[in-house]
Amino acid sequence: MRVFSGIQPTGAKHFGNYSGGFRQYAATQERGEAFFCVVDLHSITVDYDPAALREQTLDLAAMLFATGLDPGRSTVFVQSHVTAHAEAAWLLSAVASYGQLGRMTQFKDKGDGREFVSAGLFTYPVLMAGDILLYQADAVPIGDDQRQHLELARDIAERFNARFGETFREPTGIYPNVGARIMDLQEPTRKMSTTGGTPQGTLLLLDPPDVLRKKIRSAVTDSGSEVRRGDDKPGVTTLIDIMSVATGETPGAIEERYASGGYGPFKADVAEAVVELLAPVQARYAEVRSDAGELERLLAVGARKAR
Ligand code: AMP
Ligand code: TRP
Repeated sequence: MRVFSGIQPTGAKHFGNYSGGFRQYAATQERGEAFFCVVDLHSITVDYDPAALREQTLDLAAMLFATGLDPGRSTVFVQSHVTAHAEAAWLLSAVASYGQLGRMTQFKDKGDGREFVSAGLFTYPVLMAGDILLYQADAVPIGDDQRQHLELARDIAERFNARFGETFREPTGIYPNVGARIMDLQEPTRKMSTTGGTPQGTLLLLDPPDVLRKKIRSAVTDSGSEVRRGDDKPGVTTLIDIMSVATGETPGAIEERYASGGYGPFKADVAEAVVELLAPVQARYAEVRSDAGELERLLAVGARKAR
């Protein structure tokens, strides 16, 4: 089985990325031949600083290894190092639907209210389709917010195959059972995100333990003191999901244990679970990131294999 996923180097990485992204990458690399791509070409579709982007590319590569990718097993590389990605985006744009691209919610969310909206922001999902289709990927581990883009990639493959003969494999999205969409701790009706969420409601993977504890302690909870999931309890549901992702326990087991204990002790334990999960990740990150030369070497090896 071929596995492919991509992740943008811009924006500090957060618990939502861990849940829908990093932890799924580490798990799926065990199941086949896996490629993981730092998609810097996607990040240039909105304002960016070139020098910062180069640093963020290494930051993200270090985080991919710190969260469990094994360079001996997975191919980890930078999108712009393999020029076929940009080429595929142009060629596939001829079989991508203009109307469908206009319906992408990420385009509408990121474009709305901006003074300048690049054409690249609009064609972004075509580049993503190229990423996936070039590798004949079967499985694409992603979070729920990428579902629409994955569907578009499948549609492009199908249209290309119908017109020119069987060429591309149609990829399947892999979504986590719990935590496919982690919500903001302050505004639990919005997804956790460094661009669309609140800073206090976003748990960064590199936040120091005390910052993580404070953000979780001040998470909004809902009326009633019962610890359970539900549409009427978006705040508590988010905390239960986070704990489930951090510990591997099922949400049901967590609900049972904390049902009547009140929010205080529950939040304290969620915070400890997150700190316990992230402390070793942060230590590995510091170690891996301190050797930029080795990171660059690994990425060069990855690009060669990907090519
Ligand atoms: P990005 O940082 O936008 O490139 O996203 C990297 C991965 O994280 C993608 O697979 C996203 O679907 C996933 N992701 C981003 N935000 C969340 C979230 N709040 N909950 C779950 N997964 C997410
Ligand atoms: N668009 C994805 C995101 O923002 C990143 C991405 C780019 C991607 N190319 C990909 C994800 C290919 C999976 C497969 O999260």
